[in-house]
Amino acid sequence: MNIILLGAPGSGKGTQAKALMDAEGLTHVSSGDLFRANIRGKTPLGVAATDYMSRGALVPDDLTIAMIRERLAAPDVTTGVLFDGFPRTVAQAEALDRMLGEIGQSVAGAVLIDVAEDALVERLSGRRICRECQTPFHVLFKPFEACPEARCDGEHLYQRDDDKPETVRARLEVYRAQTEPVIDYYAAQGKLQRVAGEGPMTEITQRMCAAIAELSGA
Ligand code: AP5
Ligand code: MG
Repeated sequence: MNIILLGAPGSGKGTQAKALMDAEGLTHVSSGDLFRANIRGKTPLGVAATDYMSRGALVPDDLTIAMIRERLAAPDVTTGVLFDGFPRTVAQAEALDRMLGEIGQSVAGAVLIDVAEDALVERLSGRRICRECQTPFHVLFKPFEACPEARCDGEHLYQRDDDKPETVRARLEVYRAQTEPVIDYYAAQGKLQRVAGEGPMTEITQRMCAAIAELSGA
């Protein structure tokens, strides 16, 4: 079963993916995390992606699709994937359909996490991320208490460069112009579920599980 998490920057895709991957038995594939790992590793892809990401722009489709194609060839993706941050353009959505078709799979559907814009800015400005396991925390809404993997004491938390207010604004504009059409792409196929993304994180997870059950026909 392959599920797409859709939503604006800061809507909670990463937060919910961490909660859902065990519950749903799916592999979490985050395009943003993959790009950031390439940047840390100073790979050619990381070098190419840095300029786009620091401006809040999208990395070109050809580079992004090639990265996801390579990720899908890894042995841990056999039971299904929770896609977080991909696809972000209609061209990427079409490419994903083709890539999954080649391995006899398909997209079960997309879950859109709906959050008002004021809340998005507040979430991103206070976000801190663990450099080791990529778990998102928040200075007010989810302060670090314990490492979910019992590996550290919070010493790896950092603030993403693109969470600065001016870059957040650019990312929100890019989302409206280039990623909102992806919502229509899945809605037109009857493969879209919308979930209210404000309120306690655990309640949102329950709504997401119900949405995924709808998409999988359970
Ligand atoms: P990416 O890393 O995907 O960033 P994004 O889409 O902007 O999303 P975020 O990670 O900012 O937000 P999120 O929805 O995961 O929210 P989170 O759970 O952290 O992409 C970064 C860049 O990479 C892009 O700008 C682009 O350049 C490039 N890129 C990536 N994919 C690409 C693609 N497919 N094509 C081209 N380029 C691509 O939560 C946010 C905060 O809110 C956290 O602090 C969290 O603790 C808090 N929070 C979560 N839920 C709640 C709640 N219910 N109440 C209160 N606080 C909450
Ligand atoms: Mg994220």
